[in-house]
Amino acid sequence: MKFDNGTEQATFDKVVSELPSLIKTKCKGYDELYGYQLLPGDYYKESIVKALLYKFCKANNFEYEGTTSALCDTLNWRREFDPLSAAFSERHDDALVNVGILTKYPKEDSNKRVVTWNLYGALITQKHVFDDINKFLRYRIGLMERSIGLLDFEDESNNFVAQVHDYDGVSMWRMDPQIKKCTKQVIAVFQKHYPELLSAKFFINVPSLLTWVYDVVKKFVNEETRKKFVVLNDGSKLGQYLTSAPSKLYGGNSKDTLQAQNVKEVKPSDYTLYLFEQKVSADVE
Ligand code: HEM
Repeated sequence: MKFDNGTEQATFDKVVSELPSLIKTKCKGYDELYGYQLLPGDYYKESIVKALLYKFCKANNFEYEGTTSALCDTLNWRREFDPLSAAFSERHDDALVNVGILTKYPKEDSNKRVVTWNLYGALITQKHVFDDINKFLRYRIGLMERSIGLLDFEDESNNFVAQVHDYDGVSMWRMDPQIKKCTKQVIAVFQKHYPELLSAKFFINVPSLLTWVYDVVKKFVNEETRKKFVVLNDGSKLGQYLTSAPSKLYGGNSKDTLQAQNVKEVKPSDYTLYLFEQKVSADVE
């Protein structure tokens, strides 16, 4: 964790020390973030909690009010939305499951070792998946949570994810309104509730004729996030940025296909499993 000055460190220390009272008074006692327990207890790990709080401080320019309000918003959203259920217990439409890939590249450069791939181009013949925004959102958030499950918040070289959007097959002259709605909503949730978790985002196989879509969508995205975007018309150039990607189609070093690289099972954290058990017991009673 790096602080540019004493004021930043002081804000961070204050957030850390006020956390128990914030959770009690403003978050109805909900103390889970990305599968980790935030208050001292059986599953608590101080170093991880500090790393997570640092991300909220950084995203809010180390401003105390902004940081605590964003954090409480996120915890309250998690209590209602239950992203852990979206990640680890719910079944999603097969069409979506087939286009969401997670890869783990231990030898890749810093913070590009966990990659989420969204093969959105393949959905062009499956537009029904965008009909129900909530269903789409639960799938996409579930994938995000599982990618976070592969990170290591005690390792500064592996506590961000990289993402790839493969638009191979997309050709459209106007943006489908339902896709636009889903897109807008996912972007809003990511910006609000997943701060400082994205290292880079690659948009590949984007036909030159569709660069206008980029101009439309990027308006929903804040400046900081936009700086992380790389648009590549040719998908096989991706390997220049992500060397462990498959050689076929993506120009990386690996002989495996993307499907072979896919990490299908992500282990829920111990605290997640504990929360699931609690929920089952409460349902039974
Ligand atoms: C974000 C879907 C075409 C650029 C998104 C998101 C979805 C989506 C669901 C939300 C963020 C996420 O899931 O990570 C689609 C579909 C498309 C399409 C289904 C066509 C079939 C395009 C094209 C471009 C583009 C042609 C041009 C480069 C973007 C950008 C974002 C985005 C810049 C913002 C990413 C972020 O904030 O993380 N898209 N998209 N999209 N898309 Fe697309």
